[in-house]
Amino acid sequence: MSSQPEPHILFRREEIEATVKRLAAEIKQDYQGKHPLLLGILKGSFMFMADLIRLLNFPLEVEFIRLSSYRGSRESSGRIKVVQGLRSPVKGRDVLVIEDIVDTGLTISFLLDYLWKRKPASLKLCALTDKPSRRQVPVTINYLGVTVPNKFIVGYGIDWDEQFRNLPDICVLEAKD
Ligand code: IMP
Repeated sequence: MSSQPEPHILFRREEIEATVKRLAAEIKQDYQGKHPLLLGILKGSFMFMADLIRLLNFPLEVEFIRLSSYRGSRESSGRIKVVQGLRSPVKGRDVLVIEDIVDTGLTISFLLDYLWKRKPASLKLCALTDKPSRRQVPVTINYLGVTVPNKFIVGYGIDWDEQFRNLPDICVLEAKD
């Protein structure tokens, strides 16, 4: 890839909106009356979280956790650390993890293990996008938005080296030439 990659639309904002609505309807059915803790993984999930929770009309709490994995490169190092931890206790809570993209699965597997050790009442995963062709460890995604091809995606909160998070569509990053 050249030093000036360009984003090309893969999922338009209207498709994202419809996907978020569908996911919200599925989540509503399962969590109404449960007062869940929605736990977003920073930074990529912030836009998805903001849109999703506005469609959930029941009491819930929002938390974020920050993990280190990619560090600006395109490949997962596999060495994952919590760099900004949880402020709310997880024990006994119905926890729903909100992720932007599941790629190799290493990040989310690490987080799910980390959370299970803290004894939640239930633990589920909602991922806006999934790149199953890259999976290295099995992951169960309870609420899945869309499947994406084996390309680097950006936009709607998802970055490449901190760029392109502000794009309203989900795009594939491609070389200019
Ligand atoms: P995994 O550990 O390989 O599953 O990677 C998960 C994390 O890597 C995501 O939360 C993203 O931050 C990042 N990531 C994986 N694939 C992409 C991509 O195509 N674009 C941007 N970030 C990605």
